Amino acid sequence: MTDPDDALARHTDYGAERMDEGDLSDDPLAQFETWLADAAGRGVYEPNAMVLGTLDSAGILQSRTVLLRAIDERGFAFYTDRQSRKGEALSANSGATLLFPWYPLHRQVIVTGTVARVSDEDSDAYWRSRPHGSRIAGTASRQSRPIASRAELEARVRELEEHYPDGVDVPRPARWGGYRLAPTRIEFWQGRTSRLHDRLVFSRVDAGGWNLQRLQP
Ligand SMILES: Cc1cc2nc3c(=O)[nH]c(=O)nc-3n(C[C@H](O)[C@H](O)[C@H](O)COP(=O)(O)O)c2cc1C
Repeated sequence: MTDPDDALARHTDYGAERMDEGDLSDDPLAQFETWLADAAGRGVYEPNAMVLGTLDSAGILQSRTVLLRAIDERGFAFYTDRQSRKGEALSANSGATLLFPWYPLHRQVIVTGTVARVSDEDSDAYWRSRPHGSRIAGTASRQSRPIASRAELEARVRELEEHYPDGVDVPRPARWGGYRLAPTRIEFWQGRTSRLHDRLVFSRVDAGGWNLQRLQP
């Protein structure tokens, strides 16, 4: 077994890959898609997993992982229970961040922006694409609320499975749906040797344009 102290003391040098201004697309969303494809192609587990940071009504930062399910010029979409802890935070404060931790590639992307609900049509379309079991689970679970036992949750699942056997449509609960983060800042980080990393940040300057800046590592 690995000694946990070894993990704390390790100094990994982050390879020889580089990121120059000229290497990046002018469009940060296109650049993001290139890096997402790299992450998928180079074997990153769950490359579309991202850490969503939100602020609750008391100003306390919260974070958790969610899966990116769509990306287009409007932004980054994910799906969840809107009555969850994150849903409550997003109702109180629509500002949020998404962090993609692609450690095996020595890369990280941090996206900052404002979150809004996706349309009911988009939520319905994504709900229908989910496996039957996931739709049952999404209906059974009131995400982030306490429950007395696992048995109670599983009993609720069995009840729903009787009501909606395999092949029968499970309707989308009104509380379940998507959010889309419209980015105002996207930072690309490429690890370099001796901690002299590359950081390039796109900031939204107006409805159509982005400004690119290099930050010190
Ligand atoms: C790899 C991974 C992917 C996840 N994807 C989602 C997701 O797409 N949507 C979601 O609601 N929760 C997802 N979760 C669970 C969340 O991290 C979290 O536990 C849940 O959404 C409740 O968060 P909240 O109480 O802050 O609202 C995922 C967790 C992991 C580890």
